[in-house]
Amino acid sequence: MIRLENITKIYNEKVDDTKALDDVSLKIEDGEFISVMGASGSGKSTLLKIIGCMDSPTSGKYFLDDTEVTAASRSQVHKLRKEKIGYVFQHFALMDYYTAYENIELPLLAANVKRKERKRIILKQMEHLGILSERNKLPGKMSGGQQQRVAIARALVTNADIILADEPTGALDQKTGREVLELLKEINKSGKTVIIVTHDEGIAKMTDRIITISDGRIVGDSKER
Ligand SMILES: Nc1ncnc2c1ncn2[C@@H]1O[C@H](COP(=O)(O)OP(=O)(O)OP(=O)(O)O)[C@@H](O)[C@H]1O
Ligand SMILES: [Mg+2]
Repeated sequence: MIRLENITKIYNEKVDDTKALDDVSLKIEDGEFISVMGASGSGKSTLLKIIGCMDSPTSGKYFLDDTEVTAASRSQVHKLRKEKIGYVFQHFALMDYYTAYENIELPLLAANVKRKERKRIILKQMEHLGILSERNKLPGKMSGGQQQRVAIARALVTNADIILADEPTGALDQKTGREVLELLKEINKSGKTVIIVTHDEGIAKMTDRIITISDGRIVGDSKER
């Protein structure tokens, strides 16, 4: 379970006091499939990064399962992130000089998984996502849809409970975007919590719950209706 209580995020407190997130409270149950919508700069990526334990709020409390992340030590937060979170970054964020296989391998290396086991997990995941034939290619030689699948595979290999995807369809044509969304839906059906950021209302409608933010505040939540 994810629970945010009065979360505020100000990036540069000394320089300006623009609130990227402004008093956000939110509860997300295990296994939900959620989209976050809002204009550019409204705070969507900030919200996702805080949920993903990649950044900490300026004030407020964040609970992830039994842990108060905002009260945990750095090493505890690091461990939580490694074990529970799979993150698909805005614009893929693949390593250009690493092959598809090597990109997907990164979180497994960080988790000290043995070589043989890494290979087994990676090939299985690549096969499942239909990118096995791309395994020795560099990202620059792949299509946008294939790159996004590599980014999704990388988020999945550690078997995280929560998959966070920042505009997973943003750089894709409509058809490929739908395919990637179907894939995320399938991942949700397998029992994982999936939260995506999107600008596309058609994509948002394919999820079970739409959260809308504007100027750092939640202004709409289809679950609250
Ligand atoms: N690292 C940072 N340092 C300073 N300000 C930041 C930083 N990241 C984001 N901001 C600011 O915080 C606000 C929210 O940014 P955020 O990236 O969360 O928006 P977004 O909704 O994801 O936008 P987009 O749709 O363009 O990706 C914006 O005003 C942005 O300029
Ligand atoms: Mg963003």
